[in-house]
Amino acid sequence: MGVKALGYLVIETARRAEWHRFLTEVVGVMPAAVASEGVSLYRIDGRPFRLWIEEGPTDHMRAAAYEVGDAAELAELKARIVAAGRPVEDGSAGEATARGVAGFFRTSDPDGNGLEFFHGDSRDDTPFQSPAGVGGFVTGDMGMGHVVFCAPNFAETHAFYKTVVGFGDTDFPRFHFSDDPGDPGMGFAFMHAENGRHHSIALAEMPMPPSGCVHIMLEMQSMADVGKCHDRMRRAKVPESATLGRHVNDQTFGFYMQTPSGFDLEIGADPLVIDHTNWTTTAHLIPSEWGHVWAWQKALKEQQGEQA
Ligand SMILES: [Fe+2]
Repeated sequence: MGVKALGYLVIETARRAEWHRFLTEVVGVMPAAVASEGVSLYRIDGRPFRLWIEEGPTDHMRAAAYEVGDAAELAELKARIVAAGRPVEDGSAGEATARGVAGFFRTSDPDGNGLEFFHGDSRDDTPFQSPAGVGGFVTGDMGMGHVVFCAPNFAETHAFYKTVVGFGDTDFPRFHFSDDPGDPGMGFAFMHAENGRHHSIALAEMPMPPSGCVHIMLEMQSMADVGKCHDRMRRAKVPESATLGRHVNDQTFGFYMQTPSGFDLEIGADPLVIDHTNWTTTAHLIPSEWGHVWAWQKALKEQQGEQA
């Protein structure tokens, strides 16, 4: 039982051309050779694609897709999710082929965040080459990175991921983003799959935004590549959501910028790699050791006439 890693993301957008420029010129990911009608696929490694960008009427994170070990584990997971009362729909053989997987099903968590679970991944023979000169992204056993979902029904949704899906708690903090002593704070759950990545999914106790997502994260192989990506963001005038900084919990160095669909993309490097088989859940008090000045915090402080 358990989830191996985050495999790919499915994003619906009314801004496909904007996504293309953002991904190739700013982030430096590679367009995949094959794509279906209305869909653009992007690679960050040897997998046929990691980002499925689909034309649609809204801008919305449609699904985070996680890999499990084999067909039997996929069937067991599906049975547990059905027993938990969540709707489940099998992907067709054609849809599985388009995703480069042997089989998959769609479902959602109790807050409605879209999920796919698959087994039988595949590789592309053409080597990954970044159009922006990025040395490479860190994937392999740790998967493509992480996604952070909103969970207004925090306890219920956290229990779904922990007891039904099988993720483990790496860090279970409550962050306070204001100086108000009466601020109840915001619950977060950073959860690991069966690999060394600190978290492959995280939940934030906040209302669901139209984009259906807080942020996604991609990991670059070097801090220099993160810095160069930050330069490309500034040159392209992509809105910076949080300045360069280092997180306390996963120790990742990086920054956040706004994607064309409204949620953020975290670009990071040099993270903590955990031993998930022997980990005691932490509860850190603050998200960042230094940096990470959030655009919304800066705007609020400026409004209050303080130095940001
Ligand atoms: Fe993150």
